[in-house]
Amino acid sequence: MVVDLLNKQITLILKELGIANPQLNFEHPADENHGDWSTNAALQYAKQLPDINNPRKLAEIIVEKLKPLLKDIPEIWQVSIAGPGFINFSLAREYFRTEIVKMSEKAPQEYFAKKAKENKNRKVIVEYSSPNIAKPFTIGHLRSTIIGDAVANLYEALGWQVYRDNHLGDWGTQFGKLIYAIKTWGNQEDIDKSKQPIKELVTLYVKFHEEAEKNPNIEDDGRAWFKKLEEGDDEAHQLWQWCIDLSWKEFQSIYGELGISFTENNGRGFGESYFEDKMSEAVDLLETKLAPEKAVENGAHYAEGEDGAKLIFFNNEELPPLMVMKKDGATLYATRDFATDYFRLKKYDNPDLIVNEVGAEQSLYFQQLYKVEEILGWYKPGQRVHVKHGLYRFKDKKMSTRKGNVIWLADVISEAKERAEALSPDKKHITQTIAIGALKWNDLRSETNRDIVFDWDELLSMKGNSGPYVQYATVRAKSILRKAALEEFSPGYGDDAWKMNTEELNLARHLDRFVETVQLAASEFAPHHLASYLFELAQRFNVLYNTHKIVTAENSDARERRCVLTQATVKTLEYGLSLLGIQTPEEM
Ligand code: ARG
Repeated sequence: MVVDLLNKQITLILKELGIANPQLNFEHPADENHGDWSTNAALQYAKQLPDINNPRKLAEIIVEKLKPLLKDIPEIWQVSIAGPGFINFSLAREYFRTEIVKMSEKAPQEYFAKKAKENKNRKVIVEYSSPNIAKPFTIGHLRSTIIGDAVANLYEALGWQVYRDNHLGDWGTQFGKLIYAIKTWGNQEDIDKSKQPIKELVTLYVKFHEEAEKNPNIEDDGRAWFKKLEEGDDEAHQLWQWCIDLSWKEFQSIYGELGISFTENNGRGFGESYFEDKMSEAVDLLETKLAPEKAVENGAHYAEGEDGAKLIFFNNEELPPLMVMKKDGATLYATRDFATDYFRLKKYDNPDLIVNEVGAEQSLYFQQLYKVEEILGWYKPGQRVHVKHGLYRFKDKKMSTRKGNVIWLADVISEAKERAEALSPDKKHITQTIAIGALKWNDLRSETNRDIVFDWDELLSMKGNSGPYVQYATVRAKSILRKAALEEFSPGYGDDAWKMNTEELNLARHLDRFVETVQLAASEFAPHHLASYLFELAQRFNVLYNTHKIVTAENSDARERRCVLTQATVKTLEYGLSLLGIQTPEEM
């Protein structure tokens, strides 16, 4: 990349001037009239050079020394100094021409070929969705599904080996209660026939808790059933499996609607129950490694708490204690996470990254978990990543007033479809693509850890920052290309062909930033960078389209140039959307 060359040259110049180990920043100036790249190197280092001691003067010296070197960097067209000493660089139109022509010709996957080579041995496990059996698939799980899938796609684009896992909540003491409830009040045949079997199971589970208030003894019955389940009792196991099958069927239909899949454990993901027989090994490691006598050196220890449960205590109460074993010896969510992460360490041969996409409300828990896994020597800081998501805030009265009640995802999806259909009633075949695109975009356009306002009108608006808006820009650009009959234009290699006007240059400049945007979004686990980029791209394309004729441009050079730009835009929008898990309809 050009910026790497600039970085190298300016670093050398500063070293020559006496700076030991210069670390430079390069940014895109917010005002594009200032060029394509900018560095504050002179402001950073002037103080360290007493002879110069003036950023503006240092900037002048750097630029003087840089000028002769620039003949080897033909991508740079202009260098200038601005304000107190910023050095700004503008890229040559010839550079943009080469890049945009390449983009228009290649498959978008190829844009990342160089990165992919560097990354081909890197492994990332992205764990997302992770709903709970016999419980509703919540909005939180929807967010996890959408965001996790996008993060996995970004890494895949960059050539990483990506493992998509789903940590289903399919084990735990709650299954004892559920089994008791099914046996006591439930009717399996009726539930099997029900349209919403999970709702029935949830009702039974709620009933258990209501009854337990009146008659606490049934808590013991629940525990006993879970014990049976753990011991492999046939009846308990069958009932549990029945709940799993009912739930999985419903989850699968949601995943089908959303176009989501997983790669691990035959596409089901390694749910909590997979680790049932793997927990004792992990607990043994905790016992040995975190023995109380080694607390000072480790920073934490594993011991029995006052009531007989076993917990990890952090020195100086740096973090609250983390329970690993209940007093009756039952395992917990955390126990299974330890087993999971130990399993991952071995199975994937120490993966470079493990991402848990889980709601922000579990932040403290993941801090505890990661800390312990570092102490155990399993993972290094930064290797474990909690990608947090915030909540949905519903603008819609109907939804926000369902106090305490969960919002069923299936209802949200069907409402999205109804509204998408109303948007273009004559085109039923695109309803699904628009509805799901709108839902996903609404989620991915803002920083994951923020709460998002859920407003149906905004979600499906054709004017604002919405999925349908970007889809529509893509569809329109595609139809222009169809009109231009692709084979009729070839990239403008004529001398004057690439004298771009402002609108073209603005578009070209933005197109050229696609690869770095994907890299940024992946490295920060932040798909919103890509969404903002795509929105801006759609806008810049629309400006070009509204200002200049494309197919019937004033001359053949302009026509070719704009068609090449349109071609690159279509590829980038379509592929960029696909990385967010959003499809582009053929027409709209
Ligand atoms: N099933 C959990 C829940 O619904 C999320 C699991 C997250 N992943 C994990 N490894 N703990 O809250």
